[in-house]
Amino acid sequence: MYVGLDLGTSGLKGILIDDNQVVRAEASAPLSTSRPQSGWSEQAPSDWLGACEVVLGALGEGGGLCNVRGIGLSGHMHGATLLDGADQVLRPCILWNDTRSHVEADAMDHDPQFRAVTGNIVFPGFTAPKVAWVREHEPAIFARIRKVLLPKDYLRLWLTGEHVAEMSDAAGTSWLDTGKRDWSDDLLAATGLSRDDMPRLVEGSEVSGTLRDELAKRWGLPKGVVVAGGGGDNAASAIGMGVVKAGQAFVSLGTSGVLFAANDGYQPDPETAVHTFCHAVPETWHQMGVILACTDALNWAAKLFEMDAASMTAGLGPLQAPGTARFLPYLGGERTPLASASVRAGLVGIEHATDKEAVTRAILEGTSFAFADCRDALAATGTRIERVLAVGGGTHSDYWLRALATALEVPLMLPEGADLGGAFGAARLGMMAATGDLSVASEPPIARTIDPDPALIDAFKEAHESHRKAAKFLKEFP
Ligand code: XUL
Repeated sequence: MYVGLDLGTSGLKGILIDDNQVVRAEASAPLSTSRPQSGWSEQAPSDWLGACEVVLGALGEGGGLCNVRGIGLSGHMHGATLLDGADQVLRPCILWNDTRSHVEADAMDHDPQFRAVTGNIVFPGFTAPKVAWVREHEPAIFARIRKVLLPKDYLRLWLTGEHVAEMSDAAGTSWLDTGKRDWSDDLLAATGLSRDDMPRLVEGSEVSGTLRDELAKRWGLPKGVVVAGGGGDNAASAIGMGVVKAGQAFVSLGTSGVLFAANDGYQPDPETAVHTFCHAVPETWHQMGVILACTDALNWAAKLFEMDAASMTAGLGPLQAPGTARFLPYLGGERTPLASASVRAGLVGIEHATDKEAVTRAILEGTSFAFADCRDALAATGTRIERVLAVGGGTHSDYWLRALATALEVPLMLPEGADLGGAFGAARLGMMAATGDLSVASEPPIARTIDPDPALIDAFKEAHESHRKAAKFLKEFP
């Protein structure tokens, strides 16, 4: 048996799988985010430990964990968890969707060595600019930093007593030499840190430590259970869906949206605003286009119309050609392809006849065009996509899936069973670490396939073109 733990932004989820990868139990505990100032987004790391207690306590009821051999970890990426010499947390963790460090990110991005070594733009969401913000605004805290950990790696520290990071999450810090899969001493020095401030690196499928005896006893696990490196939530989800080889891809319609493709080699192209990261298995990389508001965009409109998102999309009927209205989903800035923390969303082309349904369709189309921008950015780096799995809360809307398949011009495959996200991939990584068998990351059975609508492809192409024009305008606005 293997446990997968996924530290998500809105909750921590745990699953237990058996040796045949059948899910035997699931549990979750909610987490909240505080937004003390505009653009800020923080969590208290102690809450993660509390949530983990609840989840493992629930999974362990009735001796449920007595045959566990391995644990894998997945988590929201890029967060800066700052610890002093006694491993005490120095301030709330600054999360992936916090944009306060845009000035620091911009300055670092203008230093050519960051793009050259990491293969990525330095986005404000990434870890290093956040620590640079702390250095500038909270110098007394910066002076006390002895370790910088990513969110799931803080959970690992508590579980195993070890300071360890793995490659897929480390690649989102702006400190990793992504091609060499090692910390860059030069980049660390450029931000006033050194390798001593960083955790040791392992591959996601390798052993990072063993569960502390005290915790094993508390939840009823055997002694010596290994904890795998694990993965950032996107890489872990990819492992869960068997997306590990070039040509394979998935699109995630979650709070944020991700178009993720696996790569056999390292092929960075930061100009495209594509993220090029290590994958959670050795000698494999991946690329992704990230849109910051996906279901978040629909939820924004649902709040405005005082409706719930599901009922907004329920009555839309068959897919239509886009109307005059365009929605550009940049509610909190955008990563791919605009790479802008300051750009804001737009709703343009409104006419007298534009009603609630037309606005809803514009949101589903606009996010689909944002994904098509990610596809074009990935294509510009030479990444080909042959098969695309679709996951995340947005897949409950058929209209959205049809619009997305038509905008991307590829069939979308919906995996069978519940969407287990990073937790299932993390459990697989736990299995890999315990058994040494890396072949367990197979593709899931497909429940149904959504094809592009051939009669509407041209209309979607045309509308995408006007979306691009509006995006260009918004980037310069006001
Ligand atoms: C990826 C990213 C998000 C977070 C939160 O770069 O910022 O997907 O990992 O899930």
